Amino acid sequence: MAPLPPLLLISLLCGLFVFRCDGACAEVDSDTEAVAGKGFKLGCISCKRRSEVEGSASIEWYFRPSGESDFVHIYSYGDSGPTIEHDFFMDRIDWNGSKRSNDIQDASIYLLNVTFNDSGTYRCFFNRILTYDNYEYNDIIDKVVHLTVVAKATRGTASIVSEVMMYVSIIGLQLWLLIEMIYCYRKISAAGEEALREAANAEYLAIASESKDNCAGVQVGE
Ligand SMILES: *[C@@H]1O[C@H](CO)[C@@H](O)[C@H](O)[C@H]1NC(C)=O
Ligand SMILES: *[C@@H]1O[C@H](CO)[C@@H](O)[C@H](O)[C@H]1NC(C)=O
Ligand SMILES: *[C@@H]1O[C@H](CO)[C@@H](O)[C@H](O)[C@H]1NC(C)=O
Repeated sequence: MAPLPPLLLISLLCGLFVFRCDGACAEVDSDTEAVAGKGFKLGCISCKRRSEVEGSASIEWYFRPSGESDFVHIYSYGDSGPTIEHDFFMDRIDWNGSKRSNDIQDASIYLLNVTFNDSGTYRCFFNRILTYDNYEYNDIIDKVVHLTVVAKATRGTASIVSEVMMYVSIIGLQLWLLIEMIYCYRKISAAGEEALREAANAEYLAIASESKDNCAGVQVGE
């Protein structure tokens, strides 16, 4: 059993606090390890600091292959929709960000058929315009993702450690429960014996006092 990925945890938490998380934005960092031949989501999220202010944003993605010094423009997303700007990525990038809105806070893209040549540094830019009552504010935010491409998924130490901890705590809890059960069973059976003995004593006393009463009665009758 794999430990819960952070996204699942977040959506579980959101499920618990639906009314608070509704429309909320969280700046989750992108994964940084892609598997060759598979798809990969390059995450890039920039939340508006004041969600009530009207905003709109256009997005640019740049890429610098490992070992090279210059970034190339690979993708843009704006009013006119998505455009792939570089042949190397032709037909290989899908939009995975905010949909049905110009107010983009999630600018993630999806890379199809990842190759080893896709490893390197990705950079996304938000060109955001915030519209206040009587002025507009222009903000440029950028984020960086260092992508490595591997032949097979490797697991982070953190996930292995958390899985081991999970088993340790499950086994520990089971043992504790077992010990508790044995302890309680012993206590209950001891108490049961005690109760039986007490009941027997009480009965004996009752009989004894009854016979004493009888005796008294007999004595009174005499
Ligand atoms: C991202 O895009 C890919 C390819 O179009 C699609 O399969 C995947 O479901 C998308 N994921 C999200 C979260 O939109
Ligand atoms: C991606 O890989 C699939 C399966 O290997 C192939 O059918 C598809 O044509 C590839 N797409 C691109 C854009 O290379
Ligand atoms: C990756 O780059 C190398 C060197 O630039 C090139 O020879 C090779 O064909 C490239 N592979 C792919 C899958 O584009």
